[in-house]
Amino acid sequence: MAKKYFIKTFGCQMNVYDSHRMAVMLENLGFVPTENQTEADLVLFNTCHIREKAAEKVFSDLGRAYLIKQERAEKGLDTIIGVAGCVVQAEDEEIAKRAPYVDFALGPLTYHRLPEMLAKISRKHGMTLIDTDFPAEAKFDFLPENRAEGGCSFLAVQEGCNNFCTYCVVPYTRGAEYSRPVAEVVAEAKRLLATGTLEINLLGQNVNSYHGEDESGRERNLAYLLRRIAELDGLKRLRYTTSYPADVDDDLIACHRDLQALMPYLHLPVQSGSDKILKAMNRRHDRKQYLNVIEKLQKANESLRFSSDFIVGFPGETDADFEQTLSLVNEVKYIQAFSFKYSRRPGTPAAVMPGQVEEKVKKERLDVLQKLLFDYQTKFNEDSVGKVFAVLFEQKGRHKGQLIGRTPYMQNLHAKADDNMLNKIVEVRVTGATTNSLSGEVL
Ligand code: 5AD
Ligand code: SF4
Repeated sequence: MAKKYFIKTFGCQMNVYDSHRMAVMLENLGFVPTENQTEADLVLFNTCHIREKAAEKVFSDLGRAYLIKQERAEKGLDTIIGVAGCVVQAEDEEIAKRAPYVDFALGPLTYHRLPEMLAKISRKHGMTLIDTDFPAEAKFDFLPENRAEGGCSFLAVQEGCNNFCTYCVVPYTRGAEYSRPVAEVVAEAKRLLATGTLEINLLGQNVNSYHGEDESGRERNLAYLLRRIAELDGLKRLRYTTSYPADVDDDLIACHRDLQALMPYLHLPVQSGSDKILKAMNRRHDRKQYLNVIEKLQKANESLRFSSDFIVGFPGETDADFEQTLSLVNEVKYIQAFSFKYSRRPGTPAAVMPGQVEEKVKKERLDVLQKLLFDYQTKFNEDSVGKVFAVLFEQKGRHKGQLIGRTPYMQNLHAKADDNMLNKIVEVRVTGATTNSLSGEVL
């Protein structure tokens, strides 16, 4: 009987991509996937350290995994528990202390060593293994070939971050910026397309600072990479995320004018609308520069719409600063957004800044901001009713005969549709809208 693996992913799209790559590695080793944790011989948590809540969730899941491991042991079944991702990078000692039953831990830059790790464990069972070094060799050189999981695929092109926003752990957990060479990215894109992908989302913590080498050794930017991928056979949709506003250059803006496959939706996090707070966050842009970038993008492609990330209650944020964030939202009218209460992360400069904001105030501000953001999101969705969108169906719906997909604007849409439309792009007329989803009928 083949061994079964269960992976639970926390956090960002980069983790979703990494989990998929680990799954491919495990399947190459003969494992088969299961969605039922109790029948898994290998349980792997791919963790996130960005906010305290995300990091703490891992420990409760680990506790539960240990109980399952003990129950399985009574039935004579072995269970390996592994932890991957950014919590390992930041808190490997904490894991060893609070969850000593964890069999192995791999940092985000070393997960290509998973097969080696599993081999060691099977030789010497019971030993706790930790692997979090920032390796000199590039992780990507040691990963087996990727393949599509469905119609939409993530493709990591850049990893790490040199920006050091004062609230953020990413430069510590994911390390310095690294760009994969153009040829490697194009080869992976071709494999994804050959195995059924229609949409590729180029990923990077700071994806628009991409500066990989091309085939002749010349450094190329993200715009070049987008143009190379846009011309590949079979590619229908192209996206990239996450972009840093100060690094949006004119080449990239021109892509939104020229490339048909590039979807009219861009995630461009601003974090705050107050110049004072942006400065304290060590962002390399102010409010005006950000709005200027939005304006230029909008001019290049008027159907383009935006989403963003926001942090409320950053140290020193006053009511007036917060008002600036609200007014920025009113200017840009985001169609989607993620908003968070500032979370103090150990080791980051903002964690020890004076003027920490009370929890109660953070919560009040978050409620106000989210209400405003939801209003714009709802309005955009309601305005979609009656329109026809090309929808890429990605998964089965809750009800039989129903599929769920996404519009070019990343809206979730469900419609009555045959299973043979799964992983295809289909014209759909929107018939209904809520804050979080659309309903429609296939034309
Ligand atoms: N507290 C709250 N939100 C944070 N983010 C990053 N670090 C923190 C933190 N310490 C948010 C930012 C970022 C998103 C991925 O997570 O908005 O864009
Ligand atoms: Fe974190 Fe800022 Fe880098 Fe984004 S740009 S990963 S928020 S340090």
